[in-house]
Amino acid sequence: MALKTLIFSFLVLSFHTLTTAATADQPSFFVRSIDREMTEKKENYSHFRFYWQDIVGGANATSIPIIESIPKFNLTSTFGLTRVIDNALTVGPNRTSKLVGRAQGFYVSTSQTEYDFLMIQTFVLFEGVYNGSSITFLARNPINEKVRELPVVGGVGRFRFAKGICSC
Ligand SMILES: *[C@@H]1O[C@H](CO)[C@@H](O)[C@H](O)[C@H]1NC(C)=O
Ligand SMILES: *[C@@H]1O[C@H](CO)[C@@H](O)[C@H](O)[C@H]1NC(C)=O
Ligand SMILES: *[C@@H]1O[C@H](CO)[C@@H](O)[C@H](O)[C@H]1NC(C)=O
Ligand SMILES: *[C@@H]1O[C@H](CO)[C@@H](O)[C@H](O)[C@H]1NC(C)=O
Ligand SMILES: *[C@@H]1O[C@H](CO)[C@@H](O)[C@H](O)[C@H]1NC(C)=O
Repeated sequence: MALKTLIFSFLVLSFHTLTTAATADQPSFFVRSIDREMTEKKENYSHFRFYWQDIVGGANATSIPIIESIPKFNLTSTFGLTRVIDNALTVGPNRTSKLVGRAQGFYVSTSQTEYDFLMIQTFVLFEGVYNGSSITFLARNPINEKVRELPVVGGVGRFRFAKGICSC
């Protein structure tokens, strides 16, 4: 079962702030307030779009099974199948189109009845000001549904405190 090439298009809200206000009674030996200078930067909304190349076989496979499906499900939902990925993120659908980042993580088939994968992955980007920054998703991906939304759970670098949604 291959997910092949999916378009991952995502909206990100990246901002530098903290959700909990410092209080006077906080235990100072392990928590401190952050300089307001760091916390009041404007929010930026950005929309990224690129292709996620899941190459499941051949000499250049980037999506490798580390746990096979439970035999009872190996011809249906592949329940239990776990693949570790280091997939290319490209600007176009062709595998040879410009590489802009990599999707690293793993996905696990978590349904006994349909193709539905729990995906835990970080997109690390290589371009311009985003070079080295990464954004993390943790989501259910029922791949036969036309549109799936994968929530952003955070990020680092340019994506510090990011939140957002990825549609694929
Ligand atoms: C938001 O955009 C401004 C202007 O482009 C930039 O200076 C700032 O670093 C950006 N902030 C983040 C968190 O990317
Ligand atoms: C693997 O990648 C190499 C280098 O990019 C390429 O020459 C080769 O044709 C690829 N092999 C397959 C099976 O795609
Ligand atoms: C499914 O599991 C059965 C029993 O272990 C095995 O014989 C068969 O080759 C497997 N099929 C696939 C497609 O993996
Ligand atoms: C992908 O790019 C390669 C090399 O640029 C080209 O040979 C091939 O035809 C392209 N494939 C598709 C499906 O466009
Ligand atoms: C991204 O950063 C790495 C390490 O600092 C550097 O080698 C590479 O050339 C940079 N890539 C781009 C596209 O700027």
